[in-house]
Amino acid sequence: MPSEATEPRAWWKEDVVYQIYPRSFRDSDGDGIGDLRGIAEKLDYLVDLGVGIVWLCPVYASPNVDNGYDVADYRAIAPEFGGLADFEHLVREMRARGLKLVMDLVFNHSSDQHEWFRSARASKDSPYRDYYIWRDEPNDWGAVFGGGAWTRNEPTGDWYFHIFAPEQPDLNWETPALRRELYDIMRFWAGKGVAGFRLDVISFISKKPFDAPQTGGIFAFYANGPKLHEYLREMHAEVLSPLDLMTVGEAPGVSAADAPLYVAAERGELDMIFHFDHAGIDRTPEDFWRPAPWKLSDLKEILTRWDRALAGRGWNSLYLGNHDLPRLLSRFGDTGAHRAAAAKLFATMLLTLRGTPYIYQGDEIGMINTPFESIGEYRDIVAMNGWAEARAQERDEHEFLADHILVSRDHARTPMQWDASPHGGFTAGEPWIRTNPDFSSTNVAASRADPGSVFHHYRRLIALRRATPALVYGDYVPIDAGHPDVFAYVRTLADVLLLIVLNVSGDEVSIGELGRYGTALIGNYDGCGGVLRPFEARVLRMAEEVGEYASPACAINEVDPAYMGLNR
Ligand code: GLC
Repeated sequence: MPSEATEPRAWWKEDVVYQIYPRSFRDSDGDGIGDLRGIAEKLDYLVDLGVGIVWLCPVYASPNVDNGYDVADYRAIAPEFGGLADFEHLVREMRARGLKLVMDLVFNHSSDQHEWFRSARASKDSPYRDYYIWRDEPNDWGAVFGGGAWTRNEPTGDWYFHIFAPEQPDLNWETPALRRELYDIMRFWAGKGVAGFRLDVISFISKKPFDAPQTGGIFAFYANGPKLHEYLREMHAEVLSPLDLMTVGEAPGVSAADAPLYVAAERGELDMIFHFDHAGIDRTPEDFWRPAPWKLSDLKEILTRWDRALAGRGWNSLYLGNHDLPRLLSRFGDTGAHRAAAAKLFATMLLTLRGTPYIYQGDEIGMINTPFESIGEYRDIVAMNGWAEARAQERDEHEFLADHILVSRDHARTPMQWDASPHGGFTAGEPWIRTNPDFSSTNVAASRADPGSVFHHYRRLIALRRATPALVYGDYVPIDAGHPDVFAYVRTLADVLLLIVLNVSGDEVSIGELGRYGTALIGNYDGCGGVLRPFEARVLRMAEEVGEYASPACAINEVDPAYMGLNR
């Protein structure tokens, strides 16, 4: 990486992250649930892909009301995933391959089965009573998973607060002893060789005054409470800074304007946050679980707004899929004739914008949504609660599922498709959730065997990003921002200028002059010119100097030798 970069260098800016949903990645013991040994078996695959950091969704002991986002013991591994010895084995195997591990910490709430809560709910005299939030009477705030945010506690006759399910009581960050416990948990995992943390719904940890009226969207209401930044600064001073840990905070409800408060380096809080602006792009403003149409112009505007907000002030994170969203190709791309082209286009977008890219498991082979057929095939608490609500309103299953299938989190949680053997090679047993029936054609083995596949496109893009400082640290400048189908931008650093042109549509689009510039470094079609084909994506290098757009002519097969044959 060059010395010209003004942005301070960091490993977590230069590496690409791969997100694993352990329950669905690889089952090593045939119980139908993915596990830590299964992940360890697949590390060479991740090295081949070229990622440098692995984010593991929660693997702690949990009753799994919300698949591990309800933690019963922050220091224990869930038995279905293995034990601490398996965790230590995984860390060793990762280190041996130069991979870094990021753990998911769920500190806004615990499980109601955590010993703190069991004690706190049993008696008002419990030493853990103030670890949670209690009132004699509830207010009318609502919960993200539906229903009210307060549940009555029979043994003590009062009410406790939960932004998510009743089985996920919110922790009371006002209590210093609680915060000290949480920092100790972070030290515990850091001591086991973890390089960083993803902090679940961290924007929600400080609560608004009890009498605040719940207005606006639910995420914005719960985000940015009065003491939030005080807590983050304390966590940074106590743990993150002394142990040199990388952090990415999940930040629903946080706007681009507020983002620098979380990630500007001089504030000493977090390294990155995940915003929700594009996660909610295909949802109604009132209800995140209701689908709505989306527009490319909105996606471009959001991504540009976030780049501008953080340029020179803090570092961005980039994601197009995760365990809470349907598959990106089904949302934004194409699942028919242009499926592979679309998968490569979104890979290009993810890996050439400014910020650390987070790849969600399976996106690198172009996985799509599963055709769930009945409510019985869904597993997520959001589906269960939504269905209960629909039944109460006398809606029928068909009507409910017609909407829910467009927003379901279960699409991201179906088994990873390794090969064409039963259940995609995920398990020798019965998987905990159904496998997408397209596993026989869409799988890792087939994708790795085909040099023109989505997998190899991801691999080449990751290698290109690693070899190209302008793709990591370069400025981002959008071109023709109002174009309804084309997303085009340049990345520039010193005298290097890269042009990225993406046709985010299934139609041919003329780009005139723009098609004549530069040398193609990587593209998803052969040849180029003034017409972009469906979901065509090109990354081009401009001649010599910034601003000199005119030559040489775009030629997809003329690859700059410096790029190591990346454009096969
Ligand atoms: C985050 C997680 C999600 C979970 C929720 C409650 O949004 O990503 O999976 O359900 O927090 O913990």
